[in-house]
Amino acid sequence: MNKVAVQELRREAMDRYEQGQLEDALARYEQLCQLEPNDPDVLCDMGTVCFTMGRVPECIACYRKALEISLSHKGTLANLKGACHEAGLFWKDCLQAISRGGSVLDTCEFGSEAAGGESAPHRSADVDELIMLVRPYTLLDSMRLAVLHGLCQEALLVEGEVVECGVCNGGSAAMLAAILRDCPDSTLWLYDVFDDAPPAEAFSSATAGYSSSVDTVLQVLRRVDFPLDRAVIRKGMFEETFRQPLPAEIRLLHIDAECYDSVLDALCTFYPLVSEGGIIILDDFGHWEGAREAFYDFCAQQNIRPLLERVGYTQAFWRKDHEHNRFIRDRFATGTYRPEVCLDVLEAVGPEPLSLSGAEGLSSDVMSH
Ligand SMILES: C[S@@+](CC[C@H](N)C(=O)[O-])C[C@H]1O[C@@H](n2cnc3c(N)ncnc32)[C@H](O)[C@@H]1O
Repeated sequence: MNKVAVQELRREAMDRYEQGQLEDALARYEQLCQLEPNDPDVLCDMGTVCFTMGRVPECIACYRKALEISLSHKGTLANLKGACHEAGLFWKDCLQAISRGGSVLDTCEFGSEAAGGESAPHRSADVDELIMLVRPYTLLDSMRLAVLHGLCQEALLVEGEVVECGVCNGGSAAMLAAILRDCPDSTLWLYDVFDDAPPAEAFSSATAGYSSSVDTVLQVLRRVDFPLDRAVIRKGMFEETFRQPLPAEIRLLHIDAECYDSVLDALCTFYPLVSEGGIIILDDFGHWEGAREAFYDFCAQQNIRPLLERVGYTQAFWRKDHEHNRFIRDRFATGTYRPEVCLDVLEAVGPEPLSLSGAEGLSSDVMSH
């Protein structure tokens, strides 16, 4: 295969990844690895694809190999740290093993508590298993998924349904569904255009336009044993589907729609239906200015000043009509307040978002979203 054909294969692999066609992307990277076995860019990218598919051991093996070829390879060390964090490994062990010419897989056990100072997230095995199940269906990282899970449990304290605006292939929705399945009175409402190839101009942000389908969403909901007759799937642009009958009352609203118009429309439509004490979660708050602006404009329009809690670099949430945290101060301090289980993670290590090797056209934005 000549150089141009190899480049074309690489471009195809990145495109497949970007479109969420992970099996296809991986097949192409495996082919590339045979053609270019010592190219750290290819190994790093293949590691990232494996990570997104939940294949953490293979992912770590790829990053290690890339670092064996080039210890200073751009982005790979940060990626390795993130992957080790995910696997409960201490990343420095990985590096030392490399510098000794040994194998980290020989010296570390997957799933074991990290040794030597940095601790793995305090997530239960159940949540970790769930994350592994939904990971191929989501653009969210593990920490955001764990936060959704914890907040959905909190939301069971109030009445109503669970609504997600911006579902794509259903991974984050499945995280919510896993909690809701034991709650026979509650329904999961899912809103997205769910299009194989949504036209970019349909959205006010060039970032939207992901390939997704209702079938994939149903698949992941089945994976978490959610009864499908309790899922209401509203396929189409928000401006149309939000005009159809809405849930009467909402206990949790998750907005992961990236662009200003979509986030504002979701807030205007559903916020009035959120029960007192219900939870509103915004993804992209730190990542996309449009999502953040929509929140501030909405607050100004409604004359509300929510107590916004931030988690990680991009997630944010608040409880409707919750004025202060004084009464739950102790729960914050002891870590028994569920979402702060996730805040512990931040304090512990806070893994870097994974990124491709810096190849043109794909940025860490794509990889972390
Ligand atoms: C970041 S993705 C959602 C990711 C998803 N929560 C996950 O777990 O991977 C954003 C989604 O919002 C949808 N979206 C944004 N604005 C929309 C609108 N106005 N109408 C319909 N869908 C919209 C896009 O189609 C896209 O699938």
